[in-house]
Amino acid sequence: ATGDLRDRLARPLHDLRISITDRCNFRCVYCMPKEVFDKDYQYLPHASLLTFEEITRLARQFVAHGVEKIRLTGGEPLLRKNIEKLIGMLAGLRTVHGKPLDLTLTTNGSLLARKAQALKDAGLNRVTVSLDAMDDAVFRAMNDVDFAVADVLRGIDAAHAAGLGPIKVNMVVKAGSNEQEILPMARYFKGSPHILRFIEYMDVGASNGWNMRDVIPSAEIVRRIGAEMPLVPVDPNYTGETAARWRYADGGGEIGVISSVTQAFCKDCTRARLSTEGKLYTCLFATRGHDLRALLREGRSDAELSAAIGAVWQGRTDRYSELRTTNTEGLSRTGERKVEMSYIGG
Ligand code: GTP
Ligand code: 5AD
Ligand code: SF4
Ligand code: SF4
Repeated sequence: ATGDLRDRLARPLHDLRISITDRCNFRCVYCMPKEVFDKDYQYLPHASLLTFEEITRLARQFVAHGVEKIRLTGGEPLLRKNIEKLIGMLAGLRTVHGKPLDLTLTTNGSLLARKAQALKDAGLNRVTVSLDAMDDAVFRAMNDVDFAVADVLRGIDAAHAAGLGPIKVNMVVKAGSNEQEILPMARYFKGSPHILRFIEYMDVGASNGWNMRDVIPSAEIVRRIGAEMPLVPVDPNYTGETAARWRYADGGGEIGVISSVTQAFCKDCTRARLSTEGKLYTCLFATRGHDLRALLREGRSDAELSAAIGAVWQGRTDRYSELRTTNTEGLSRTGERKVEMSYIGG
């Protein structure tokens, strides 16, 4: 492998998102609604999870194919025991260009105050924190486990203090649930070292009961914020960046909007996802993955693993969000069950 792998739409493989647990201590209404993820919900048994050695061995093959960024997700990745150990193992990898990886993680922030320093010491570069409201009552209703907003804010501060910044804060906007929090969130993070990003509510998985009426288009979010605090567009940091960037005209920092529903970004999508139990998915909205764990546990060689990954990527045609924009109805009627975000990794 030399890192010049391309899929059928000529997209290279640059990012690997690894879900390290399908569990979460939150029950966000748009992701793991309580009615579905109740006490009887069957999470994966421990033996199904990839071990740290298995994850690292696969990651090494992905990196050889050109991956430059690895993001640990879940579920809530900080719930995985000894995650610092995994981070230490991944931090040793080098890109095909000999540079260190961009090693990052997406967390709900609940355990961050406690763990930030250890994560940094293990070799993590930065973190992205999900936070859907400033108002405590609204936030408690969104996470649906009565978790206080102050504790997440403490986690963000601890991560910043530990050198895990600049921290990105992701807010999923759902009409009728937290849209009144758009301005309070923008005001709170304006002038801070953190970058707030607004995410359009998406139809991932099969249990959140998604409806287009619940989506607030990014253009509307930018309009609402800009009316109070003028915004200027900024060029992307890199091709295929999920967020469109805007900066405050008065120098108060920047925000981002992730418009996967109204302005799909599949054209430059360089992301592969490795599920908790070792299946490779080439799209967030996939219905099927490729079982890499089976290859590992059959005792295949590194060369065989590498060839399998390469073949999957070369055959990739995914562009779900672009197709949905023009034909939502047809796609939702295909009947195949999409995998849950907590399993495939956000
Ligand atoms: P940076 O490296 O910090 O730019 O991170 P990122 O934007 O690649 O990753 P992050 O986990 O912060 O992504 C933010 C959100 O964007 C996710 O939680 C998803 O909601 C959405 N998202 C990320 N990747 C994809 C993707 O490939 N397709 C779609 N449709 N949405 C995505
Ligand atoms: N739509 C958009 N973003 C979502 N996330 C989870 N479910 C959805 C959805 N339905 C985001 C979370 C977090 C990351 C783990 O994925 O807000 O930032
Ligand atoms: Fe957990 Fe994140 Fe899903 Fe919320 S969005 S339930 S914090 S995995
Ligand atoms: Fe990539 Fe699929 Fe998201 Fe499009 S919908 S950006 S192909 S993960």
